[in-house]
Amino acid sequence: MSLFRTKSVEQSIADTDEPEFRLKKSLTAVDLTVFGVGVVIGAGIFTLTGRAAHDVAGPAVVISFIIAAIACGLAAMCYAEFASTVPVSGSAYTFSYASLGELFAWIIGWDLILEMFLGASVVAQGWSAYLGTFLQQIGIVLPEAVSYGGVVDLPAILLVLVLGGLMTLGIKESLRVNLVLVAVKLFIVLFVIIAGILFINPANYSPFVPESVPTESASGLTQPLLQFLSGLEPATFGVGGILAGAALVFFAYIGFDVVATTAEETKNPQRDLPIGIIASLVICTILYCAVAIVVTGMVPYGELNPSAALANAFAFHGQTWMATVIAAGAVAGLTTVVLTLMIGATRIIFAMSRDRLLPGALAKVHPRLRTPWVISILVTAIVAVVAGFTPIGVLEEMVNIGTLSAFVLVSVGVLVLRRKRPDLKRGFRVPWSPVLPILSALICTYLMLNLSVETWLRFLIWLALGFAIYFAYSRRHSRVGTGDFIAPTVVAPPKE
Ligand code: ALA
Repeated sequence: MSLFRTKSVEQSIADTDEPEFRLKKSLTAVDLTVFGVGVVIGAGIFTLTGRAAHDVAGPAVVISFIIAAIACGLAAMCYAEFASTVPVSGSAYTFSYASLGELFAWIIGWDLILEMFLGASVVAQGWSAYLGTFLQQIGIVLPEAVSYGGVVDLPAILLVLVLGGLMTLGIKESLRVNLVLVAVKLFIVLFVIIAGILFINPANYSPFVPESVPTESASGLTQPLLQFLSGLEPATFGVGGILAGAALVFFAYIGFDVVATTAEETKNPQRDLPIGIIASLVICTILYCAVAIVVTGMVPYGELNPSAALANAFAFHGQTWMATVIAAGAVAGLTTVVLTLMIGATRIIFAMSRDRLLPGALAKVHPRLRTPWVISILVTAIVAVVAGFTPIGVLEEMVNIGTLSAFVLVSVGVLVLRRKRPDLKRGFRVPWSPVLPILSALICTYLMLNLSVETWLRFLIWLALGFAIYFAYSRRHSRVGTGDFIAPTVVAPPKE
């Protein structure tokens, strides 16, 4: 049946060798780890740690971080296996094309576009908010109408335009800028951990898991789908609060999957991609847990600032200069997240238009720069408009649901590809298969069910739009469908 037609792994790899679509192969495992850490540590740790501890989990937010890390770790292994088997741009999209078929590939590509476009826009606005805070602390106040929350968010637009320019000039150049900014961000996070230890009061850890209390706020469309379906009385804190916290702080881990989108630009993808994906996740998990422990030890959870907890924890102890340094570091940190998500969006659209599920003209690579310049400019323009003119706020959960659905399909896809193509060389294999991939799909689905009913409704509308485009355009133009391929030249022979 044509909806489930797949694109062979050999064909996917052969496509990357067509001269007009060939990207420069320059990235190493270290580049990829920096790239991963650059996109993962961002608005999540700087804002959500406080919100999750304050609203739902208390000091046990560190357990929420561990649960979210387990879900991401399992998905990361599945990504690593896929990326080391199908080293082609496009990440989960390409993987599902090879295993689950075209329709699933389209859905997953469509979800990833949602994740990265909205993610970049949301974080650009967060960057603008932190910039405002920082400037205010040094005595500069921007006009309200053109700053965060105003009629037009000018700083967010300018940021996106500058980053879009870098991205169009070439990924290696972008990564060099990324490297400096990641170093600043790591310094700030370590600064919070080390300086914060001095201000810990062990009494703040008690009770570690606050008792569950009923809540009136999570009702109707804003309550988690699971709660809505089960009819249980809405409650926060307790064990349920830890799980709700996990669904929330999941956002902080989003981004390691973007590493897989750079497969074609990696020198040795079979070895370097698994290292890059898993190393960035491990580094981030350790840092997040340390920050969560320190911050909830510095301030009683009920008094944590839900939007800027890290800086405010220091202000709470009268250390305003430290708070200013942290706000400045957040500005640097969020920059890299926006950049990396924009690069990710470009790569996904690149892969989809090369397959003609989107118009092929988009996928042209610039002859000198060797970057997909048409898509880069398009992505920059859309993210700038969305970040500059849309009052986002509630859309963060959309990023989570888009990403989690991609994780579920990647986990299932690993099992399908193993069954269909046991012969392929895999640089990395998920241990204890099929147990771990199944567990990964189940945990990610469970986290999705903890997202709100309204998020699910918006997600369904997005999917409906995607289906409309697929059936009206993509299905008829798809290269797999029309057979418009060059003959596959790269066939990975089974080695062992
Ligand atoms: N993980 C990224 C962040 O926290 C998306 O900003």
